[in-house]
Amino acid sequence: MKKIKLLTVFFIFVEISLCQHAKIELDGASTIIINKNIYGHFAEHLGRCIYDGFYKDGKIRMDIVNALKKIHVPILRWPGGCFADQYHWKDGIGNKKNRLVTVNTTWGMITEDNSFGTHEFLQLCELIGCEPYIAGNVGTGTPQEMENWIEYLNYDGNSTLANLRNTNGHAQPFHVSYWGIGNESWGCGGEMTAEYYSNQYKRYASFCMDYPGTTLKKIVSGANGDDYNWTETCMKNIPTEDMWGIGLHYYTLTDGWNHKGSATNFSEEQYFNSLKNCLRMKELIEKHSAILDKYDPSKKVALVVDEWGIWKDAESGTNPAFLYQQNSLRDALIAATTLNIFNNHCERVKMANLAQTVNVLQALILTSGDTMLLTPTYYVFDLFKVHQNSKWIPIKIASPNYTYNDQSIPAINASASVDINGVAHISLVNLDSKKNIAVSIEMSESQYKNITAQVLTSEKFNDVNTFSNPNKVIIHSFTDFKKDGKTLSVNMPSKSIVVLELK
Ligand code: AHR
Repeated sequence: MKKIKLLTVFFIFVEISLCQHAKIELDGASTIIINKNIYGHFAEHLGRCIYDGFYKDGKIRMDIVNALKKIHVPILRWPGGCFADQYHWKDGIGNKKNRLVTVNTTWGMITEDNSFGTHEFLQLCELIGCEPYIAGNVGTGTPQEMENWIEYLNYDGNSTLANLRNTNGHAQPFHVSYWGIGNESWGCGGEMTAEYYSNQYKRYASFCMDYPGTTLKKIVSGANGDDYNWTETCMKNIPTEDMWGIGLHYYTLTDGWNHKGSATNFSEEQYFNSLKNCLRMKELIEKHSAILDKYDPSKKVALVVDEWGIWKDAESGTNPAFLYQQNSLRDALIAATTLNIFNNHCERVKMANLAQTVNVLQALILTSGDTMLLTPTYYVFDLFKVHQNSKWIPIKIASPNYTYNDQSIPAINASASVDINGVAHISLVNLDSKKNIAVSIEMSESQYKNITAQVLTSEKFNDVNTFSNPNKVIIHSFTDFKKDGKTLSVNMPSKSIVVLELK
C-alpha cells in the first residue's frame, strides 16, 4: 500500500515537472496606446550596415526596403551611435564627387566617402515609409552646426541653407522632428559628466529651432544601463518642457563585456545567462521611470530605449570593428521578451531602436553580395507588428520558473493589445529550453469567436538562418490551443514565441 502511494506521488511529480502550467489574466483594454515607435530600428555608419548593407553600388537596396516595409518599421535612427558625434552633416550633401572623404575613426579606421548622407538617409526613410530620427553631433560639433542642419532640413523659406537644400534636389522641407542631442555623451560622445552634459544639452537645445510646420522632439542622450545618477541629474537640470524624451542604452551580454561569446556556438548556461540579462530591461525601465515620475508625474517625457539588443563576438573571419554577428533563435527570444517588456511599460516607453538593422549586432537582415536573408529576430518584428498603435491590455502572469543550476527566471512572459478594429493580440514567450508549458489565459470577455495563431521556434536554441538554409527559423501557423468560454489554453512548445489573434 505504502509502495503504491509512493509511486503515485512519483508519477504526479514527474508529470508536474514535465508539463508545467502558467496562468495569465487579461484585464480589459486600457486607454494607453503602445506607441508604434517602440518597434523602431537603428542604422549607423558602422561596418556593413550602411555601405554594403542598406546602400550598395551607390543605390539604396530595394529588397531590404521591401522587407522592412513588410514589418512596418516605424522609425529609423541615424547616423549613430558613436559615429554621430564625429559626423559633420555638410560632408554628406551635394554632388557625390565633391563630398569630403573622411575617416571613420570609431569603427575600424576606414575611409568614409560620405556618399550616403542626409538626402540618402531621408530618401531611405521615405521608401520604407518610416519617420527619421537623427542624432546630432555634440561631441565634435558646434551648436551652430546643429542649428544649421535643422534649418537646412526644416525651413520652408528663403535662406542660403534652405536654398542649398533646393539646389541639392529637395525643394520641400524634410520635416524631421525626432532629434537626439548627442549620443552616449557619458562615453564615446565626449566622456562628459551628467552635470556637464545637462548644461551642454541646454546650450545646444536652445539653438534647435521649431520651423513652421515642424515641432522638434528633442531627446536627451540617456544613461548607460543602470546609471541612475545620469537620469536623475539630467531630469533635475533640464526643464521637462525642453525635452520630448530621454534615452536609455542597454545591451544584453552573456557574461560581461570581456566574455561576450559566440553568436552561434553557446552552451545552455550561456543561453540561460543571456535570457536572464535580457530580463534586466524590466528593472532598468522601472527604476529610470521612477526617476522620471518624480520630475514629470504627468508622464509627458518619453523614455526612449534608443539602443538595445544582444551583443556577441563578431563572426570569425570578419573585421571585429564591424560587429557582424549571426542571429539565432535565442536572439529572437530576447527580442520578443524585450518587446513584451516595452509593451507592458508603454505608458513611459514611447520609442525604442534595436541595434542595428542590417549586418551589425542583433540585425534583422544579413547580406552577402547581392543576396540577403531574414534573421529569426526579423520574424519577431513581423509577428509583433500587430501591437503597433494598439491599446495596451494589462496582464497578470503566474509563471513556472526556468531553472538552470541554482538560478531561476520566469519561463513565460507575455503582452497583449487590442487594435482599432477590436482585434486582440496576445504575444507569449516560453524561454524554457526543454519544457513545454501549458498556459491558461483567463480573458475578461468571451466574445472572440475566431482565434488563429503563429509560432516561431526551432529544434535547437542556437539554430540560425544561413545563406544556404535561409528558412530554418521562420514563422509557422500554430494550432495547439483551445478556447472554453473565457479560458484559452495554449500549449507553448519549449523555446518558442506564439502570437494569438482573437477576433
Ligand atoms: O551600436 C553600437 C554602438 O554601441 C553605438 O555606436 C554606441 O552608441 C553604443 O555604444
